[in-house]
Amino acid sequence: MTNCTDVCGSARATAAPAETKTPGFTRRSLLRTAAIGLAALGMSSVASTAMAASKKITVCKTTAIKVGGANIFSPKGGLPVLITHPKAGVFRAFSPYCTHQHVPVGHIEGSNVICDQHGASFSTDSGKVNRGPATTGLPKYTVTVSGTSVIVTF
Ligand code: FES
Repeated sequence: MTNCTDVCGSARATAAPAETKTPGFTRRSLLRTAAIGLAALGMSSVASTAMAASKKITVCKTTAIKVGGANIFSPKGGLPVLITHPKAGVFRAFSPYCTHQHVPVGHIEGSNVICDQHGASFSTDSGKVNRGPATTGLPKYTVTVSGTSVIVTF
């Protein structure tokens, strides 16, 4: 307890703030350091997840899918992927699982990929739903062509 009469002229006693000291650190500085460390760990985790998520894998040759066709591949080191070839030289890559009940899509009808389970239809070019019961399009992957290789970024 200190008397603040010396400082402010009031006779009211004030309690001195109790502070726990750790040699070289205050409690506040330790908490701040811990928070910064946790944030750094979080950033590191996000960065490593992003790096793991961007893996480029050659899935097939361009000649493996005729124009207007599609096929499901299971590339080594990647995930199952539906590659479509909606126009000459244009390849698309999607998750091969119907967004209605997560079963593999079944076949192609014109410019649509059809799920044989309940009949949902997805565009071979955009993956968007053209007919339900699915309400969400097929998730897309980035696909590039290098020479005659179709490469998907997982
Ligand atoms: S699981 Fe594909 S339409 Fe139902």
